[in-house]
Amino acid sequence: MKVLVIGSGGREHAICYAFSKSPRVANIYCANGNAGIASIAELVAIKPDEIGRLADFAESKGIDLTFVGGETSLALGVVDEFEGRGLKIIGASKAAARLEASKAFAKDFMKRQGIPTAEYAVAASPAEAIEILEGGRFGEVTSPVVVKADGLAAGKGVVVASDRLEAIAAINELESLVGAEAASTIVLEECLFGREVSLILFADGESFALMPPTRDHKRIGEGDTGPNTGGMGTFTDDSLLSSQQTAEIIDTVIRPTLKGCSDEGFRFRGILFLGLMMTEAGPKVLEYNVRFGDPETQAILFRLDSDLVDICEAMLEGRLGETEIKWRAGSSACVILAAENYPAKPRIGDVIKGLDQAAAHSDVVIFHAGTNLDENGSFVTSGGRVLGVTAVGDDLESALEKAYASASEISWPGMQFRRDIGKPAGN
Ligand code: AMP
Ligand code: GLY
Repeated sequence: MKVLVIGSGGREHAICYAFSKSPRVANIYCANGNAGIASIAELVAIKPDEIGRLADFAESKGIDLTFVGGETSLALGVVDEFEGRGLKIIGASKAAARLEASKAFAKDFMKRQGIPTAEYAVAASPAEAIEILEGGRFGEVTSPVVVKADGLAAGKGVVVASDRLEAIAAINELESLVGAEAASTIVLEECLFGREVSLILFADGESFALMPPTRDHKRIGEGDTGPNTGGMGTFTDDSLLSSQQTAEIIDTVIRPTLKGCSDEGFRFRGILFLGLMMTEAGPKVLEYNVRFGDPETQAILFRLDSDLVDICEAMLEGRLGETEIKWRAGSSACVILAAENYPAKPRIGDVIKGLDQAAAHSDVVIFHAGTNLDENGSFVTSGGRVLGVTAVGDDLESALEKAYASASEISWPGMQFRRDIGKPAGN
């Protein structure tokens, strides 16, 4: 069969990799991909926001199955467009994508459905947000307050402000950080405390299947310092959630979310990502994403022992509940190698050394996030996050050891990475 993957980062490389393992897949196409993805897929020069062109391509190529990587295409309605033309596609509909595309919508949805989340207020302008804070309409703001841009902001739209003054500064700066559209509505949230866990699941509208729990390391610097990034590394490990905690998340978050979506007229079929804070009062939702995480996907899919095509078909046919999904036992880790000056304005165009030696390590796969080929055919950096060195192991320690041993072979001027992925302090 012919498969199309939409997107161009490490996540999409991992999705193409999982499809490349399937004996049922003859051809993989990736729009628009990157130089690393080109080793396993044919690149298609169509951007994720060109949804009409993507559907035209799928029709003319006779694509049997399309998998959407990122939120941009989903929020624009790529799934509705494909389904309207009778094309098979995995991803959330435009209506369901509002759970990610609008934080205000997601918060109101959780409130309506009784899903545990932080207290919040929604402001229609920066001035109103400040008025809410100043006027005490958002309680007595003595503790930290979280300021969020409503719209899609590629991970840059959230500031955890330690006091009222910092919160006001954050409100005033939000527009320049994420643009006027994403910041036109602002969500203020109570700050939650606890351990963060991400739980991603396949959903077919009724039933669901969990993937191994993961933790992301969002800050650029070791020990959780510096600005937020798209994610500097991640790991999967079953010990992140006890079976009791998982059962609680299923009861209080997952079932009510899927039922809520159906009750409100937009069945959720696709990948649902729950960003959770494990508070003393139980799990609370920090955010929904309607797609795989990046780099969580790299660590998750490297452990997938089942055929991704079979899982996709079960999702499309509403058979997920009866489908057993097998995962490699143990743990996995993904260490992101980023360009100099990421996340601000990364330097690009540097030749990457040591890739072949790094890839020769056993139990390791290197996913490309931002690479290109120069005129000599050498891989060069072309984005902020460049590579995701991903390893599996019988336990977390061995997965991390393998990922770091492989990463140590790779270099380019200004390369940066965190050495504390998987460590308790690194959150
Ligand atoms: P989000 O994009 O909404 O997941 O926010 C990005 C990061 O900000 C999360 O991973 C948390 O580390 C932090 N964050 C978001 N909301 C809250 C909250 N209500 N309390 C504490 N931290 C938060
Ligand atoms: N790594 C977090 C995300 O993909 O949103």
